[in-house]
Amino acid sequence: MQTVLVINSKGGSGKTTIASNLASLFAASYLKTALMDYDPQGSSLYWNSIRQQGNYPAIHVVDASHLKVGLTRTFQLRIPDDIERVVIDAPAGMCSKMLTEMVSRADVIVVPVLPSPIDIHASSEFIYELKLIINACRRTNTVLGIVANRARSDSGLYEPLKCFLGELDIPFITTLTDTDSYISAVERGMGIHELKPQTVKLELSQWLPLVKWLADTRSATAAPLSTGAGMAINHH
Ligand SMILES: Nc1ncnc2c1ncn2[C@@H]1O[C@H](COP(=O)(O)OP(=O)(O)OP(=O)(O)O)[C@@H](O)[C@H]1O
Ligand SMILES: [Mg+2]
Repeated sequence: MQTVLVINSKGGSGKTTIASNLASLFAASYLKTALMDYDPQGSSLYWNSIRQQGNYPAIHVVDASHLKVGLTRTFQLRIPDDIERVVIDAPAGMCSKMLTEMVSRADVIVVPVLPSPIDIHASSEFIYELKLIINACRRTNTVLGIVANRARSDSGLYEPLKCFLGELDIPFITTLTDTDSYISAVERGMGIHELKPQTVKLELSQWLPLVKWLADTRSATAAPLSTGAGMAINHH
């Protein structure tokens, strides 16, 4: 099982967009997939409720922010044994207890960052905090990568962030452009990998480095296999 946490304390950076697209990509690649929504807004759960109305590969969802009284937290957050990929959609701004819980679950952490100086500054502080928490949780094998999201042009805005990441030895994985395809996928409960490939060529090309990076973080024994979506992912 591989658990991918999509997180940034800054609101609106694209956590739900990337988490839902990742979950649908895994599911469309015949991987048994779970999506945990830690955000009380429940955007990922809402996206999946639309998805269930269509004929798309099913995703097991876990509502991690509205827990029932009388059942333990561990029980309510349990992931079925056969799940191969877990994607966690984090809320904006969270308490350190929740942050620690999510980081403790993660094998891979993806931080989306918007192309604005304010977002880049706040995200840099958050990435530094995240590094400290990963160390405190003794998650020595957890890898952290950054995705620029909603980019409109290659304006060089991210250059200071790239320098900062270089100093911390954190990879800058890819840049996702701001396009209407993400909106039209979300409103249909889909991921961009499930749209007609010829309509999302740019988006798919920009997701490839992220897909490859996630596959590379898997053990060297992982075997490549076929894919039902527009791009290949390593199984297991
Ligand atoms: N690459 C993109 N292209 C176009 N629109 C995008 C893209 N990424 C995100 N959006 C849009 O930006 C808005 C915020 O994205 P999203 O909800 O994924 O952010 P978030 O980090 O989950 O927000 P919150 O902190 O409120 O949970 C949404 O309307 C989403 O559709
Ligand atoms: Mg969200």
